[in-house]
Amino acid sequence: MQFDIADSSLAPQGKLRIEWAEQQMPVLRQIRERFEGDRPLEGQRLAACLHVTTETANLMRTLKAGGAQVALCASNPLSTQDDAAASLVEDFEIPVFAICGEDRDTYYRHLNAALDIEPTVTMDDGADLVSTIHQERTELADGILGGTEETTTGVIRLRSMAATGELLYPIIAVNDAMTKHLFDNRFGTGQSTIDGIMRATNILLAGKNVVVCGFGMCGRGVAMRARGMGARAMICEVEALPALEAAMEGYQVLPVAEAAKIGDIFVTVTGNTSVIRAEHIAAMKDGAIMCNAGHFDVEIDLEDLHSVAQGSRQVRPSLEEFRMSDGRRLYLLGEGRLVNLAAAEGHPASVMDMSFANQALCSEFVATSPSKLRRDVHAVPDHIDRQIAELKLAALGIEIDELTDEQEEYLASWRQGT
Ligand code: ADE
Repeated sequence: MQFDIADSSLAPQGKLRIEWAEQQMPVLRQIRERFEGDRPLEGQRLAACLHVTTETANLMRTLKAGGAQVALCASNPLSTQDDAAASLVEDFEIPVFAICGEDRDTYYRHLNAALDIEPTVTMDDGADLVSTIHQERTELADGILGGTEETTTGVIRLRSMAATGELLYPIIAVNDAMTKHLFDNRFGTGQSTIDGIMRATNILLAGKNVVVCGFGMCGRGVAMRARGMGARAMICEVEALPALEAAMEGYQVLPVAEAAKIGDIFVTVTGNTSVIRAEHIAAMKDGAIMCNAGHFDVEIDLEDLHSVAQGSRQVRPSLEEFRMSDGRRLYLLGEGRLVNLAAAEGHPASVMDMSFANQALCSEFVATSPSKLRRDVHAVPDHIDRQIAELKLAALGIEIDELTDEQEEYLASWRQGT
């Protein structure tokens, strides 16, 4: 078995942590148990490009239990948990190509190593696998039944490929499932981003001005949790509707240029590029902290930051100080990469349980569809979304009501009014 990981001796620690995560992933566990019997992925070769974490390890175990031959590479150079990677290789015999801190060349070499299994199914978080197949390994596309995509940024990239007719095989937009984005993006990103900021800085959030750029599901989560810690959360938006929602949630809504003057901590979660750039950096207060919780490290313009800084030094792990010519010191967390994975451990397992249940069931859907799906970006089938919500509720021991016959009838009829 080929693999490339940092240190095999980390496997025992990784295994303990994978088992701990598994305890918080009851839905995925049930799917794995069914997969062991049904083997719906028998004969499939599945290349996965995901954050290599203990939660992902449990997804890989599930896919393997379903009969798939799997290969895993990282979807971000800084998010790999080397102990989880080691345990996957040593304890679960799953090939992993990922080393925390790998450079760009290694990142793409690893991605290509995962693609060397000649996948029939791909699983992406950010669409780097799909993008590499479409730009460098097009010969693989014919053999691929379909793929899945985990994150908003990836779905946006894939939709633009589908719109121009360039997408060579169908993809299921896992991100867009209700049981994914309403929970993972909001509660997962919310908690883990605050976790990343705290681990990197150990600052007190109470009383701070936390500027959240982007009020999508992830931004909502970050703002909500920052507020919960006693911070004054402020929102920057480009779309009228979410801006209005933020205002009515009681957040101050203002342009980045204004927020730059008063923010203590800036969090970008827009999925777009150069959200914080030279003109904003010029206006920031001494001691301001910047971090990103969006998928790619493009939201804080790092070129601008480096070019206006006179020098920099690493103050703590994941915390870099930049000295400005006027004496101000500004701080960047996790090199501008996803702070929740670069400086912390990503979303907690309990929320990844639903995201990865979607991944497992959608890969089964792709593999067992009677006819090949259209080359397009597809929604997660409703029955999968509903099933995951029901399983999660049951696992949490939460019961809900059922409609009476009278209520069913009432909802189905239009005759009764005032
Ligand atoms: N994305 C965000 N958190 C994650 C986690 N814990 N594992 C895998 N992918 C993630």
